[in-house]
Amino acid sequence: MKIYTTRRRPHRPATIAINGLGKHYPDAPGLAVDGVEIDIAAGEFVCVVGASGCGKSTLLRILAGFEEPTVGTVTVGDEPVTGPGPDRGVVFQDYGLFPWLTVAENIAYGPKQARMTRPDVREVTDRWLETVGLTRVRKSFPHQLSGGMQQRVAIARVLANSPAVLLMDEPFGALDALTRTDMQAELKRIHRETAVTVVFVTHGIDEAVYLADRVVVMAGGAAHGVPGHVREIIDIDLPGERDSTTPEFNAYKRRIDALVHEGTTAAAS
Ligand SMILES: Nc1ncnc2c1ncn2[C@@H]1O[C@H](COP(=O)(O)OP(=O)(O)OP(=O)(O)O)[C@@H](O)[C@H]1O
Ligand SMILES: [Mg+2]
Repeated sequence: MKIYTTRRRPHRPATIAINGLGKHYPDAPGLAVDGVEIDIAAGEFVCVVGASGCGKSTLLRILAGFEEPTVGTVTVGDEPVTGPGPDRGVVFQDYGLFPWLTVAENIAYGPKQARMTRPDVREVTDRWLETVGLTRVRKSFPHQLSGGMQQRVAIARVLANSPAVLLMDEPFGALDALTRTDMQAELKRIHRETAVTVVFVTHGIDEAVYLADRVVVMAGGAAHGVPGHVREIIDIDLPGERDSTTPEFNAYKRRIDALVHEGTTAAAS
């Protein structure tokens, strides 16, 4: 399925290079994160897991350009990140939709800002409405939709800008289990179709093993007296269509769960 119009060239899926990254927040003791090194390939799906406070959101906000690193560099494509940009789409747990705009207008917002022609805006909007299954509620306002539907709008709105990189911070955290499973399958399908590079923060180890090509396990944080850091990066060598009931899937889950847990107990002792 063709997602993009030909007239407006999408950002090509980009590599992400994180080198020696550290962050100190004013008024906070020590570094929130330190020594983070991650190289992400174009089109790769990376999940980031770890106990609360280990710096997952900090890392994502730096990638988004909302926070500046204290040390180290972040490069997306060939460009150093110096602030937010249209090449990077960001989706948070609270959907951040414009409440005064309809579903379709929310999705059309970015393409309009990018000065696409009216027919192109219409085409992109229609295509994304269809992709996330919201064509029938295109004229509804966000408050008239369920959480899962609002999150679909948020994802469509970001992807309508055809970003090179999709940054997601616990995007499905507020959804019920059934909707969450649907959204995971939806996101996986969208990722297959667009090959956008994804960095996805989650507390759900199941979710990470289901979605990711690689899982970054972080540890540490202020509560443990050491800065947040990367503990291990695990390749998930499972087929594209994943079955969470297989022994292989569960072996990954147990391994990551142990790493996340070890990070908290070792530092606390
Ligand atoms: N704006 C800020 N000012 C000061 N300290 C901050 C700020 N944002 C985060 N921190 C601190 O940085 C550390 C990492 O926080 P961060 O939000 O990145 O963790 P997290 O892994 O996303 O946690 P959670 O799983 O709870 O979302 C914490 O110790 C937190 O208190
Ligand atoms: Mg967080």
